Amino acid sequence: MPALTNAIPGPRGLPVLGVGNRLLNDPLEFMVRLQRHYGDLVQLPLGKHTMYLATHPDMVKRITQENWKNYIKRYPTMDEILGQGLVTSNGEYWLRQRRLMQPAFHHQRITRMADVMVEETERMLARWEGYARSHRPFEVQEEMMLLTQQIIVRTMFGTSLSDAEAHTIGKAFNDSLNWVAGQQFRIFQPPRSWPTPGNLAYRRNLELLERTVYRLINERRQRPGEHDDLLEMLVTARDADTGEQMSPKQIRDEVMTIFLAGHETTAGTLSWIIHLLTHHGDTERKLRSEYASVLGGRNPTPNDLPRLPYNRMVIDETLRLYPPTWILTRVLINPDTLGNYQLPAGATVALSPYVTHRHPAFWPNAESFDPERFRREEAESRHKFAYIPFLSGPRQCIGNNFALTEMQIVLPMILQRFQISAVPGYPVQPQPKATLRPGPKVWVEVRG
Ligand code: HEM
Repeated sequence: MPALTNAIPGPRGLPVLGVGNRLLNDPLEFMVRLQRHYGDLVQLPLGKHTMYLATHPDMVKRITQENWKNYIKRYPTMDEILGQGLVTSNGEYWLRQRRLMQPAFHHQRITRMADVMVEETERMLARWEGYARSHRPFEVQEEMMLLTQQIIVRTMFGTSLSDAEAHTIGKAFNDSLNWVAGQQFRIFQPPRSWPTPGNLAYRRNLELLERTVYRLINERRQRPGEHDDLLEMLVTARDADTGEQMSPKQIRDEVMTIFLAGHETTAGTLSWIIHLLTHHGDTERKLRSEYASVLGGRNPTPNDLPRLPYNRMVIDETLRLYPPTWILTRVLINPDTLGNYQLPAGATVALSPYVTHRHPAFWPNAESFDPERFRREEAESRHKFAYIPFLSGPRQCIGNNFALTEMQIVLPMILQRFQISAVPGYPVQPQPKATLRPGPKVWVEVRG
């Protein structure tokens, strides 16, 4: 075994700036090249700070499972939006909230939510009928955002939004998150109190989101006992020791978190799938033939999903190539060893599902879209931590089964109803913002 060392390889970057500008300008390509050139752990100078990019599945296992308590989340820029919600909190408070919310994501509950998923998809497809009749191209991502927002607010908060309201709120969320995510690698960030155009727009968006969320909470508090969903669990929960209820601010943080984490990632993935299918006719044909033999034109139910393996393989492969959470970070409490490298306490470690999903030792021909990689035998023989779209360990995504069920239902409903083609002249590239969406826009046309 090689000796332990703290000399971690990496680029030097520019004086003062380090590699911050490259991470800002072209992070995906840059990180993949770093992994190829320097290996599984790379040191990145970022102004006064240093970040370590860990991409080997063994390291992912160490960070997210074996020694996960030593790797905490510190997302100061997200705190204003998500507060102490499940995504951003740590320690005992996180554990208590996770336990409280877990039952809302139980398999049987998600099965019961399938009806709402089907109804909302029907509503979207009725809109698409109109586009088909008038040969009107449309932007698929906007449609998917509306769909996944309506599904999350109906299933988790027992309410519905008008399409106009959903549109305004979705935009406020996206704009504020992308703006915050963009600030992360900036060397100079104007303080939030300065009236810069960016700060002012951010504040307006946040106010709009909070007004909506507090309205939802107040409505529910006035009429308790009428629902059986996540919001009811949050509003009625009492601390086992003190008997205290959660404060409106605590509930607000969880509602904002679920609303945010529960729609944009799934919408992005569905949009990627549609985009990929318009360029991979063979995969599309195979999907259609699976749907025809199992569903024969009817809508899927949760019982059908295990009998649609190719449907699932296409989703898995899309999440491999374009994991919505393309980067995430942790801060070490105590020193740790990754491979034969020693990391100091306080170090920031970045994990990138995007780069790990392209690791040459685990993914041959990694850039090609090939759902066959997820055939059962092949998937089972692979390193378990080489595929981490939902991360792994105790802090893995609480909504993974919700999202997978939703996508497995929406996709056959779309394809059984329409032929989809890309509008030429609009090249699509991954947009590494708060999540990895296809863009700038995905214009398509549908025929019934
Ligand atoms: C394709 C869809 C989705 C993907 C790829 C995804 C991915 C992820 C990832 C990678 C994390 C870990 C983040 C980190 O530790 O820094 C995470 C956490 C989380 N996700 Fe998802 N997610 C998806 C859908 C959803 C949905 C539908 C919900 C809710 C309905 C949800 C709720 C959450 C929550 C609450 C956490 C924090 C969990 C914790 O720390 O205990 N996600 N997700």
